[in-house]
Amino acid sequence: MKKFKIVVKTFAGLEPVLALELNAMGAESVQQERRAVSFVGDMGMLYKANFLLRTALKVLKPIAHFRVNNKEDLYSQTKNIPWQDYLTLGKSFSIDSTVQSEMFVNSMYASLKVKDAIADYFRESLGKRPSVNQEDPDIRIHVYLMADYCEIALDSSGESLHKRGYRLGQGEAPINEVLAAGMILLAGWQGETDFMDPMCGSGTLLIEAAMIARGIPAGIYRKSFGFERWLDFDEALFSEIYNADYEKETSVRIFGSDISIQSCAMARANIKNAGLSKVIEVETKDFLELDPPFEKGIIVTNPPYGERLKARSISDLYKSVGDVLKQKYAGYSAWIISSSEDGYKSIGLKPSRKIELFNGALPCSFRCFELFRGTHKQTVILRKANQLPDHLPPQD
Ligand SMILES: C[S@@+](CC[C@H](N)C(=O)[O-])C[C@H]1O[C@@H](n2cnc3c(N)ncnc32)[C@H](O)[C@@H]1O
Repeated sequence: MKKFKIVVKTFAGLEPVLALELNAMGAESVQQERRAVSFVGDMGMLYKANFLLRTALKVLKPIAHFRVNNKEDLYSQTKNIPWQDYLTLGKSFSIDSTVQSEMFVNSMYASLKVKDAIADYFRESLGKRPSVNQEDPDIRIHVYLMADYCEIALDSSGESLHKRGYRLGQGEAPINEVLAAGMILLAGWQGETDFMDPMCGSGTLLIEAAMIARGIPAGIYRKSFGFERWLDFDEALFSEIYNADYEKETSVRIFGSDISIQSCAMARANIKNAGLSKVIEVETKDFLELDPPFEKGIIVTNPPYGERLKARSISDLYKSVGDVLKQKYAGYSAWIISSSEDGYKSIGLKPSRKIELFNGALPCSFRCFELFRGTHKQTVILRKANQLPDHLPPQD
């Protein structure tokens, strides 16, 4: 099957885990870029990328790239693309542009130039043109313009891949599904130990964790992908990929809790919709009063950042969380994402890792706190006796 370049878009900071996912999928020439990872693959790999990747937002198939020295170049170079290979009069299309170029005041203008070029391409040969439909197009065209470099791509995903299809409702500040999966993979968890989110809100981290542990494809609950409306859609090939056996047995426990009754109800509804009620336990409880559900395990959580709370209450909350972790969670690794520097200052624990991420537009830090049994002194003794791996720092 013919191979071509494929570009997978993701969030800043998730490029390394996306590259790992692609390598595990057998992708060739995997290269990390800014908020994207590219690779070389055939149509089967493009379908798989959409169906399997947990940290992908969009999978793009570039169809042309060129230099533009002025605005008219964008029109004329776009008109040179053999559009009849991708579009017919019966298909609708939409254009979405990402532009960082002095030549174009805004991305709308670039989209308009590309739309005119496609319309004129068809009008000149067939006397008619396909219609534009921004809401539910058959073919989505993506324009990337950086300074004088332009890449035109087909968006094979359709709606963003973070829309997994299991969410019925959301709590106050649900975390994006792609970010949630990326955090779990950045924490290095693939189902080896028991997992908990004690501030689970609508349950996103729990559901993503269960899908990872059981090998459930990220796209299994989606109703459709953009490539299914392409002219060259190979239904038999996609059906083979869709029906392959990905799932694995696991005895790992996944536990979520939240102080809010409504959030827990929402989490349970989403978990049920994902068919994971037997895999995930949910309890309504204040984290400060909760007893650890397992002897050891991993915590990955997204506490409030304080946008709606007063500075003092956020510091109090994080201080209490730090105290509870120290007192009750020895043997656990706790990974916390937050934008609150005040919160982190109050937590009273030294992180062993810090990873910069964004939650929406908010710059955040994703930090790991290793909670050891015993004191710093005992840790040093253990390390000297070679009973502790070197990458694990002692607790202060
Ligand atoms: C940012 S939201 C988490 C959103 C979640 N990741 C999701 O995808 O829906 C923070 C959650 O922390 C919960 N929370 C705040 N204080 C808590 C406490 N002391 N114990 C347990 N949960 C708490 C809130 O009820 C809220 O659901």
